[in-house]
Amino acid sequence: MNKILKKRKPADNVVELTLEAKDVVRNAQAGQFIILRVDEEGERVPFTICDYDKQNGSLTLLIQIVGYTTERLAQLNEGDYIHDLVGPLGNPTDLSHADSILLVGGGIGTAVIYPQSKQLKAQGKTVDVILGARDKSLLMYEDEFRKNCGNVYIMTDNGSKGEKGFVTDKLKQLIEKGQRYDVVFAVGPLVMMKAVCDVTRDYGIETIVSMNSIMVDGTGMCGCCRLTVDGKTKYACVDGPEFDGHKVDFAEALARSRIYVEQEKKHRCRIRG
Ligand SMILES: Cc1cc2nc3c(=O)[nH]c(=O)nc-3n(C[C@H](O)[C@H](O)[C@H](O)COP(=O)(O)OP(=O)(O)OC[C@H]3O[C@@H](n4cnc5c(N)ncnc54)[C@H](O)[C@@H]3O)c2cc1C
Ligand code: FES
Repeated sequence: MNKILKKRKPADNVVELTLEAKDVVRNAQAGQFIILRVDEEGERVPFTICDYDKQNGSLTLLIQIVGYTTERLAQLNEGDYIHDLVGPLGNPTDLSHADSILLVGGGIGTAVIYPQSKQLKAQGKTVDVILGARDKSLLMYEDEFRKNCGNVYIMTDNGSKGEKGFVTDKLKQLIEKGQRYDVVFAVGPLVMMKAVCDVTRDYGIETIVSMNSIMVDGTGMCGCCRLTVDGKTKYACVDGPEFDGHKVDFAEALARSRIYVEQEKKHRCRIRG
């Protein structure tokens, strides 16, 4: 059982939960994730380790409410418990070969790029970030990114904050103005990550993406998170979750992400009555 120490609402439809998880944070690193169950019968659901405090043994998750389990998590309050949590899972990020990095985050992708920004700053790297959202009410952690990044570019689809347009518009503009990055690290919806890769491929800029495939066991046994990368079968949970974006078969990943849409809709109705 893991106790909820703090609950916050950083954006529309998103909750931030800080949980007691001493054993998990002891070895946690940026890029890794956990799998939790809300109760004994709950499905196993993966979330990125957005932040952690090794001293007090706490772990922070940023959760976008999209279906049954995330809605149940959002209903919990400080002092409540979740049934269990395993991790850290997956491989930590390794950007040791890069000196200048551009982070690109769309929506809940913030949960992955925020710990990167913190770690890269501590390593003395040059880091800029493009944050994208449909509307300003969906932007998260802007102040936190300003502490860790040299430049923070905000893009909203409707122009309610920052510049109007997509993250890829800003990306193209920066590259065309002569800004050079060793690596672009993009995390967000599959379509966004694919669009970023389509831009950077033309300029030959290495691009890393974090794949949020459907997962069950998180140990490479069930095969749910299967992807094709560079023509080879990979499992996001044990081989990733980060991959060279130019080698990911996004068409297959998109098709696999939609496999359970009907079942997920029915399941969510259970909580809404
Ligand atoms: C490595 C990894 C890290 C993730 N980190 C975060 C995070 O930090 N914050 C966040 O809000 N979300 C994160 N996700 C996505 C999150 O796991 C899903 O949103 C969650 O499982 C939805 O469950 P649900 O019951 O609320 O919704 P459902 O109605 O079950 O599904 C809604 C959406 O979530 C996807 N999904 C459902 N079950 C799973 C599953 N077991 N694994 C992965 N995706 C699933 C579905 O494809 C669908 O698009 C991450 C996923 C992965 C694989
Ligand atoms: S989640 Fe089962 S193989 Fe990756």
